[in-house]
Amino acid sequence: MQKLIIKGKRNLIGKISISGSKNSALPILAASILANKVILKNIPLVKDIFTMAELLNFIGLNTKFLLNKNILEIKNKEKKINTLAPYKLVKTMRAGVLVLGPLLGKYGKAKVSLPGGCAIGTRPVNLHLFALKKLGANIKIKNGYILAEAKSGLKGTTIKFPNVSVGATENALLAAFMAKGKTVLKNCATEPEINDLISFLNKLGGQIKLSGRTAIINGKNEIKKQLIKHEIIFDRIEAGTYMIASALIGKKVTIDKIDPRIIKTEINILKKMGVKIKKNNNSISLKKNVNLKKINITTKPYPGFPTDLQAQLMVLMTQANGLSKISENIFENRFMHVPELRRMGAKIKIKNKTAFIKGPSKLAGAEVMATDLRASVSLVLAGLIAENKTVINRIYHLDRGYEFLETKLKRCNAEIVRI
Ligand code: EPZ
Repeated sequence: MQKLIIKGKRNLIGKISISGSKNSALPILAASILANKVILKNIPLVKDIFTMAELLNFIGLNTKFLLNKNILEIKNKEKKINTLAPYKLVKTMRAGVLVLGPLLGKYGKAKVSLPGGCAIGTRPVNLHLFALKKLGANIKIKNGYILAEAKSGLKGTTIKFPNVSVGATENALLAAFMAKGKTVLKNCATEPEINDLISFLNKLGGQIKLSGRTAIINGKNEIKKQLIKHEIIFDRIEAGTYMIASALIGKKVTIDKIDPRIIKTEINILKKMGVKIKKNNNSISLKKNVNLKKINITTKPYPGFPTDLQAQLMVLMTQANGLSKISENIFENRFMHVPELRRMGAKIKIKNKTAFIKGPSKLAGAEVMATDLRASVSLVLAGLIAENKTVINRIYHLDRGYEFLETKLKRCNAEIVRI
């Protein structure tokens, strides 16, 4: 098992370029099942993307990475399509459940492994299945698999989600794309990754509009046969992670290949804490502030503060003056980083869904363990500001979602090595 060793207290100086969004690329890879030939640019070369490509190959598509250019080519020759997403591929990469909508819509059937839980929660898919049933699918659960079929195709209808779900919104969009007639989805998630999926589907011949939390899909599109090209939007969570790193120990850091308008919430929160941020049209510049103000945050669906940045912001809160609060409203078990941060000297108490962080506290390097993707990167952030050395175990979690993390940080004067 690989480890990361970080020598703390080295100021970050320089430029960090943000990669394409894993959480945008994953549903768009699933959507490629609907297409003939697709060229995707700005693909992040991370483990989850490789796993999703492996799943598409298993189904019968042909994927080819042009590695040095972050380009992925996907062809669907409609030969020997296997409408099965096996447990071995879905268990480590839950977004595999997103092939359910396109397989059902295009081929009328699908057998997809239930994703199962992960470290941050049970991760149910009831809202995905609720939407597909409304569209006319017949769904059974058997031996850990979702057996879905729609012999006479899917039929457009109006669906109101009882609560907001990114994945369920994506699966419903993917299924409704091929349904006969119009579908109206209400109480949709509106993350930028949803908009990116919609713009991809519209290039495929869809006529999908999202206004507020309502999406209107005119289904049964004839799918454009020609090559579809699409560039994946930037990863706003990666951008937020490096913004927090710069606020913690940046001397002068520029974060580019981003659209600052999409991360307004994150920028405003850092500003409220006293971080000076200079915005340009596709980058921002910031540096550490020794007098950080405490703040109270609750994680919410977009455009609220993202749950995927909760662990990272908590590290910044350990350096703020006074008692900060962060309530995790999206997942039921997303504080696994807290015991590890405590071992480094952070003063954090948890009461139900809320963490109380007393700052500023001096962090000391320690041997720690990563538990999930975003918790592991919060340990990297803590290691950057801690005295002495921090050793982070189980960094395969990091490799699922952060492209070239050590390289990007080393280029900015961090002392970080993978062994
Ligand atoms: C997506 O997960 C992201 N993953 C997550 O990022 C992100 O944390 C999450 O959205 C919230 O923003 C991808 O995009 C691949 P949800 P998803 O459905 O779609 C409950 C990362 O670190 N729920 O919006 O699974 C669910 O348990 C990952 O990159 C149901 O109850 O999130 C959670 O409490 C982690 N039933 C809440 O809704 C369902 O059918 C929000 O989940 C589906 C979800």
